[in-house]
Amino acid sequence: MEHNITLIPGDGIGPEVISAAVKVIENSGVCINWEIVRMGAEVIEEFNTPIPSYVLESIKKNKVALKGPVTTPVGMGFKSVNVTLRQELNLYANIRPIKTFQGVTSRYENVDLIIVRENSEDLYAGIEHMITEDIAESIKIISKKASDRIVEYAFKIAKEQNRKQVIAVHKANIMKLSDGLFLRCARNIATMHSEIDFGDVIVDAMSMKLVMNPEKYDVLVMPNLYGDILSDMAAGLIGGLGLVPGANIGEEGAVFEPAHGSAPDIAGTNIANPTACILSAVMMLRYIGEAEAADKIEKAVEAVLKEGKYLTCDLGGTTGTQEFAEAVIDKMGK
Ligand code: NAI
Repeated sequence: MEHNITLIPGDGIGPEVISAAVKVIENSGVCINWEIVRMGAEVIEEFNTPIPSYVLESIKKNKVALKGPVTTPVGMGFKSVNVTLRQELNLYANIRPIKTFQGVTSRYENVDLIIVRENSEDLYAGIEHMITEDIAESIKIISKKASDRIVEYAFKIAKEQNRKQVIAVHKANIMKLSDGLFLRCARNIATMHSEIDFGDVIVDAMSMKLVMNPEKYDVLVMPNLYGDILSDMAAGLIGGLGLVPGANIGEEGAVFEPAHGSAPDIAGTNIANPTACILSAVMMLRYIGEAEAADKIEKAVEAVLKEGKYLTCDLGGTTGTQEFAEAVIDKMGK
């Protein structure tokens, strides 16, 4: 079967890690027609927006996209293209699996957790204004609809993956109305899934617990901002951002992208670790029903990391981005 999929190379290290992932997919036996679309700073001059309408149209038509990271300028200019894309396409669930890899030196041995981040509201709703020249206000939106939906999704993943526990992360002791609503929704949804353990932990305590005993956690569900921060922190538990894939899922489509950003500090040097992007492609292949190819690629990535002969800079090796992809392809053939 042939699949039509939107491909967004992004900027910074985006094109490098995307090209590595595409190469691996093309060698897995899956047949994909890529519709390549450009977005971000590079198209602003031409279209007067970082997200030209063809980007949304392409994803709406194909329902699935593989995306490289896109730079968001800090403190000025256009709203984040990543946040806009997720909001425009209603990609309400951001999923980031954090798993230890054999062969990768990290502080922990048995981490295997999933961060389920609400992707459509919270402080990322982008409602900000200056009250006076010296006071800025940013509004945090938490709704019952979005909270129910994301917690329900966390339980769905827990069941699909035979996981035992879901924990809601919040700060309801201080934000009694907004996070209080999120927590009430989580507790209520949990009563409908009594076969799975449920608990809740305040976000600051959760940060400490994750750093001390990450292997104790399974599925964590939380509002947008906490998910953004804790997923980068959790990446540090297993060896860094180059290893964490991600998916943005909605009712009518999905965009798969690594958890990391455009890494301008190493862009254009062929040293970025493409593992996160290749594993995002693995999540995408499972989503489109190509589980066999997904398993084959995932096993090959794990084997290359375990062998330790071809590791990128971030993991203490000297292998380039494209050469890592070739090592994965080589393993797939065996
Ligand atoms: P970043 O994730 O790009 O980089 C943080 C650090 O991790 C850097 O030292 C970088 O070199 C390293 N790193 C990241 N990915 C790596 C990889 N695959 N291999 C090896 N090392 C890697 O985060 P930063 O610097 O905060 O953000 C840069 C830009 O990316 C910003 O404009 C930000 O808004 C954007 N961004 C975009 C995202 C997206 O498109 N989904 C997600 C996160 C950030």
